[in-house]
Amino acid sequence: MKVLIADSIDEKGVENLKEVADVIVDTKITPEELIKTIDQYDAIVVRSRTKLTKEIIEKADNLKIIARAGVGVDNVDVDAATKKGIMVVNTAESTTVTVAEHTMGLILTSARKIAIADKSVKSNKWEKAKFMGTELKNKTLGVLGMGRIGSQVVSRCKAFEMDAIVYDPYLPPEVAKNMGVELVNEVHDLLKEADFITIHVPLTPETKDLIDEEEFEIMKDNAFIVNCARGGIINEDALYNALKENKIGGAALDVYENEPPKDSKLFELDNIVLTPHIAASTNEAQRDAAIIAADEIVEVFKGKTPKNV
Ligand code: MLT
Repeated sequence: MKVLIADSIDEKGVENLKEVADVIVDTKITPEELIKTIDQYDAIVVRSRTKLTKEIIEKADNLKIIARAGVGVDNVDVDAATKKGIMVVNTAESTTVTVAEHTMGLILTSARKIAIADKSVKSNKWEKAKFMGTELKNKTLGVLGMGRIGSQVVSRCKAFEMDAIVYDPYLPPEVAKNMGVELVNEVHDLLKEADFITIHVPLTPETKDLIDEEEFEIMKDNAFIVNCARGGIINEDALYNALKENKIGGAALDVYENEPPKDSKLFELDNIVLTPHIAASTNEAQRDAAIIAADEIVEVFKGKTPKNV
């Protein structure tokens, strides 16, 4: 069996695969090279850099499994893979805590202006009055999407004595009650109430531009919004205008409409914190993601059904 590792993953996953297959690691492979060589492989491991388009998948005559070391499979044409009989798996459990912790980091950084205060001190300034912050205690967290990550963010925010309201059409009311969160039926109801809004839904045609001009108008004047899910869920032009006109308190993004977000006008603003799609990047999460992705491939090579199809 031959496996291509097309994006960099933890060495442990590579070692596990080497025990059962010929492993080629080419983390710089281009789409043009991939389209020419994909038919040689029985399995491929990707993160988010490699885009497995319909054109590439149609050439993948021997591929049995696409393993996404991570959660979002928006870089894989899952319909094309399914038509071709190729399984697509992710490693959903691996990054949950790590992404929730990064979300907390961005909430705290926004509330206490940590990133901009750091910049100020490093430029030899002592601007104490400029960095008046906001406590999290007794504030309302608004969670869009109460899946694995959203739930972990809620439990961490509860330790900060925050209240939580949730929009999630798939969450049964009794589960919301047990989790101690208030479930709302409309996104706009959440936006009106929340002091801190955090997004934990995938990018789909329904969630594209979910937060646009109208939504920024609805939010509280001092609301903060954080996105560690996918770029495109917040419309970046609308976000820029809302921040520029101080319609909201601030924002923090880990993900962008286009990655990397070259020369974005968001870079001009002080009331936004930006990180380079690193919410899932801890040693622990990436090690787990690589091991789970490798395990899934090994299962398929043994003729078994993987767990995360
Ligand atoms: C994920 O979907 O797992 C994260 O966004 C991280 C990544 O793309 O590697």
